[in-house]
Amino acid sequence: MLLYIHIPFCDSKCHYCSFNSYVDRFHLKKDYMLSLKTHLLHEMQRFEVKKVDIESVFIGGGTPSTIPPQLYHDIFGIIKPFLKDDAEITTEANPNSATKEWLFGMRELGVNRVSFGVQSFDDEKLRVLNRAHSKDMALKALNDAKNAGFENISLDLIYNFYKDTKELLKKDIDTAFSLPINHISAYSLTIEENTKFYTTPSVAKDDVELADFVIGYIKSKGFVQYEISNFGTYKSKHNLGYWEYKDYMGVGAGAVGKLKNKRYYPSKLIEEYIKNPLKIQIEELSKEDTKLEKIFLGFRSEVGVNEKLVDKEKAFLLVDKGKLTYKNGIFYNQDFLLADEVTSFVSNDI
Ligand SMILES: C[S@@+](CC[C@H](N)C(=O)[O-])C[C@H]1O[C@@H](n2cnc3c(N)ncnc32)[C@H](O)[C@@H]1O
Ligand code: SF4
Repeated sequence: MLLYIHIPFCDSKCHYCSFNSYVDRFHLKKDYMLSLKTHLLHEMQRFEVKKVDIESVFIGGGTPSTIPPQLYHDIFGIIKPFLKDDAEITTEANPNSATKEWLFGMRELGVNRVSFGVQSFDDEKLRVLNRAHSKDMALKALNDAKNAGFENISLDLIYNFYKDTKELLKKDIDTAFSLPINHISAYSLTIEENTKFYTTPSVAKDDVELADFVIGYIKSKGFVQYEISNFGTYKSKHNLGYWEYKDYMGVGAGAVGKLKNKRYYPSKLIEEYIKNPLKIQIEELSKEDTKLEKIFLGFRSEVGVNEKLVDKEKAFLLVDKGKLTYKNGIFYNQDFLLADEVTSFVSNDI
């Protein structure tokens, strides 16, 4: 069982980001954390968490480092008895708010992995993305995380911004590898509705050569690509859990949970969520939806796709062309950037 906890507060709104977060509701933090507790207890009942079976926790956002460790205390009190011994407990963090004290405090609560939203080490790019930190702040926060005792440290980068060049991205990746990390998430910039960049979509480019360069260069430094955007010598159990289509509890405003063939959507609006965290919409997933999602997630990652889910004849055509490999009833994609094309070719239903 996986657990996702959403923290919908940010110090500033990045121009590309459509995640559910508020920059002007900081006075609601305490109330929000109380409602989160109610919601968590409710989901633990629904998911029948009775024994030790939480294998990973991911605190994401928004910006989890806008919440002081003390306000997470009760949440950890609730989940601790149900955590597996080797549970992975990740928090996202932003370099401007992840102070030494915050990092130590989270480590003490039991968090054992931290994932920083760095995006770039180029101050001009950071400014245009409207990030609240500079290169120097990112360097300091990453080193502070190591000093606070985190062994598993990840950072996010964004590429295919219109100003990106191979030189800039090479420098970003070189800087990343000078830091004590064992994981990188590198995302191609996408233009989302309700963001500043939505009005200027040309700030993102779809440069396959640049994507190939980023992926190739990170791999050349010794990180394994285990999903289209994820690389490391350590592979996140939580990430893999999603791609393996495991069930997950989703707690918080705008979080999503999945149990068997149902998805759960609590309110996105923070005031509404605080008032009633148990007002949750339920979506039934059809067999076709589930199947297609499994195929898509499997071909985007090293998880692969069970032969029963695809048109085997077509899949073996791709094996002959070297695009897929086949082992013990599972097809594995050789180039995650081609996941869309492979999915539509081997799926019978689309
Ligand atoms: C859920 S966000 C939260 C992380 C954290 N608040 C931060 O920004 O430092 C996780 C990551 O998604 C990526 N992301 C968000 N919106 C994106 C977009 N439109 N295109 C590409 N990557 C995006 C960013 O790299 C970001 O660090
Ligand atoms: S990228 Fe992170 S910091 Fe920026 S608005 Fe989104 S969640 Fe907040």
